[in-house]
Amino acid sequence: MNFWSQFWWVIFPYLMLATFVVGHIYRYNTDQYGWTAKSSEFLEKEKLKWGSILFHYGLLLVFGGHVVGLLVPKELIAALGISDELYHTFAMFAGGTSGLITLTGLLILLFRRVNVKRVRVTSSISDFVIAGLLLIVVGLGVYNSLTFNFLSPASSDYRETIAPWLRGLIVFRPDASLMEGVPISRQLHTLAAFGILGIWPFTRLVHVWSVPYEYLQRSYIIYRSRRKKGHTDLRKAA
Ligand code: HEM
Repeated sequence: MNFWSQFWWVIFPYLMLATFVVGHIYRYNTDQYGWTAKSSEFLEKEKLKWGSILFHYGLLLVFGGHVVGLLVPKELIAALGISDELYHTFAMFAGGTSGLITLTGLLILLFRRVNVKRVRVTSSISDFVIAGLLLIVVGLGVYNSLTFNFLSPASSDYRETIAPWLRGLIVFRPDASLMEGVPISRQLHTLAAFGILGIWPFTRLVHVWSVPYEYLQRSYIIYRSRRKKGHTDLRKAA
């Protein structure tokens, strides 16, 4: 087994994962005030609304697809009575659709970041780097999903290569040889995804860990207009 195979499919992924963990601990301890999504909603609302909704909901679906496709062994899916043909047809339509939703959202967000001057001049280099990497990962993901599942599902089934390699990586028994014959577009998709993990702690992506779930339960804050009929202006009454 050659050095580069070991490098890309064992050393690089672990390096990125280690940076992901250590980087978060470092950032949390040194930059809590900068731990934010750096919202630009007050600079532009309309494009952000559409881009953000499509991107985030699409990504949730894509995440679910990755868990099923990569972490659940092929044999288990077959044991549930799901044939390879059915699996690939479903993967193409469901994966393709959720991928396209994500890609559309991402393109709207990118267009907004480049074309809306106020957003562009308040963006940092890391904002553009992460957006570029996301475009590579999501773009290649959609391309792979639509082409391989459609053109040659049986001859290049990622459930016999990428999926067992990833599971091996997770349990610290990585087998780089599984990734050697994988088509380049799938290899790049995977490497760029690990690249995202490596720079994650140093970008606005840290906001993912600070979703304000308590908003779902908190009681309503009631705002009333002072000018509405039937309401007393408390300042005048006082
Ligand atoms: C360990 C990292 C990852 C691996 C091994 C991986 C692997 C895969 C595989 C095997 C597919 C199916 C398409 C095909 O090749 O036939 C896919 C599709 C896709 N991936 Fe990933 N992926 C990873 C991370 C990511 C990340 C971080 C994102 C987004 C930010 C992403 C976005 C997509 C999209 C949009 C698709 C197309 C829709 C779909 O089929 O689910 N992937 N990925």
